[in-house]
Amino acid sequence: MGARKVAYYRTFQAVFNIGARCLPWRKAERVEGPGSIARIPELLRSCGVEKPLVVTDPGLMKAGVAPKILAELDQAGIPYALFDTVAPNPSVDAVNAIRALYRAENCGGFVAIGGGSSMDAAKAAAALIVRPNKEVNALGGLLRVRRKLPPFIAVPTTAGTGSETTIAALITDTATHHKYAIMDLCLIPRYAVLDPEQTVGLPPHITAATGMDALTHAVEAYLCWTYNTKESIRFAEEAVQAIFANLEKAYQDGKDLAARKALMIASYKAGFAFTRAGVGNVHAIAHTLGGLYNTAHGLANAVILPIVLEDYGEKVHHKLARLAELAGVAHGGSEADKARAFIQAIYDMNARMGIPRGFDFIQDKDIPQMIRWALAEANPLYPVPVVYDEKRCRAVIERVRV
Ligand SMILES: NC(=O)c1ccc[n+]([C@@H]2O[C@H](COP(=O)([O-])OP(=O)(O)OC[C@H]3O[C@@H](n4cnc5c(N)ncnc54)[C@H](O)[C@@H]3O)[C@@H](O)[C@H]2O)c1
Ligand SMILES: [Fe+2]
Repeated sequence: MGARKVAYYRTFQAVFNIGARCLPWRKAERVEGPGSIARIPELLRSCGVEKPLVVTDPGLMKAGVAPKILAELDQAGIPYALFDTVAPNPSVDAVNAIRALYRAENCGGFVAIGGGSSMDAAKAAAALIVRPNKEVNALGGLLRVRRKLPPFIAVPTTAGTGSETTIAALITDTATHHKYAIMDLCLIPRYAVLDPEQTVGLPPHITAATGMDALTHAVEAYLCWTYNTKESIRFAEEAVQAIFANLEKAYQDGKDLAARKALMIASYKAGFAFTRAGVGNVHAIAHTLGGLYNTAHGLANAVILPIVLEDYGEKVHHKLARLAELAGVAHGGSEADKARAFIQAIYDMNARMGIPRGFDFIQDKDIPQMIRWALAEANPLYPVPVVYDEKRCRAVIERVRV
């Protein structure tokens, strides 16, 4: 990467940082603890929502998670409309269909039940409701919505994306398979109902992948050279600590409610950290796999994270050494030794949870497009510790491919 280009990106980030500090940041209000889904009717009433649109996916209907929440609404006598066909890596078509149902049913707010896919599809649809003359694709990028959304309650069932408190909604263009983010402060949900009981039935492989997504949020936010605040740094550190302490417990025993609860809070904190400080090259590359091959987002991050951290080299040793200590995986030595121990601990945790070292489905013909999309996503917005150019991005993708 040419020095002038890097200097331009760093200047952009420094100026953006000043602007970002003037924005009216907020968090989704946390309603938490086992059984907290019972409070959803009261939350809807407090926002004046007479009929919400419930957005979820077929897996959550089958697993009985969404039906339990619908039963709470039935019991409270709250009518609702239901959209229950969100697919992973949600598309523009899904967002349009949600918007159409919301209008046809005259709804007054959203209850999004699910992982990032359901929450993001509902967030993007809510953005369309307040921007009726826009296409979904036109809302991609930063601060393109700029209007208050209808009341929005997020009920995460993975831990996870953090979407319950982030500015982002990740949507895939149906025609081009380009996966992009709509990012606006108004997309931060009003309430985040963090009920760990809803994640008890999450299968081990999804527990693993979504937990590694949360870890990637915390680590990438922590490594940003600017945008961070004291709170985002603290949240990232606490999230890393909690994920190392609890993810494998929840993977081994899904019914470990204490571990599930800790992960849910960690995911929320990591979500806050990255919504404030940004993600980085890991996410930029992972999104291309989600768009092109429908790779589960957490799985893509889990595989790419240690490869990118290794590639960053000594630039990140100081911060990774600190994370190694917090995670309890540092065993003395220099900062470089501790940083390497942290990266190795991620590889080891991945292996113990059945996450592969790489993917065999990445095709040669797609790599130039992946590089273009990843670089356009990361630069200049993400304050990454190492700015990637085409060559370095390609080298990382080659290592992700086995
Ligand atoms: N908005 C953001 O800030 C943000 C951040 C990171 C990722 N994302 C996006 O979120 C999406 C990924 O979300 P995800 O990883 O949470 O997965 P997901 O929402 O795609 O769900 C994955 C699968 O898990 C199942 N599932 C979810 N909860 C379950 C439960 N409790 N019990 C049984 N099955 C359950 C679902 O039915 C689905 O089949 C991606 O599109 C990603 O890009 C968004
Ligand atoms: Fe993510």
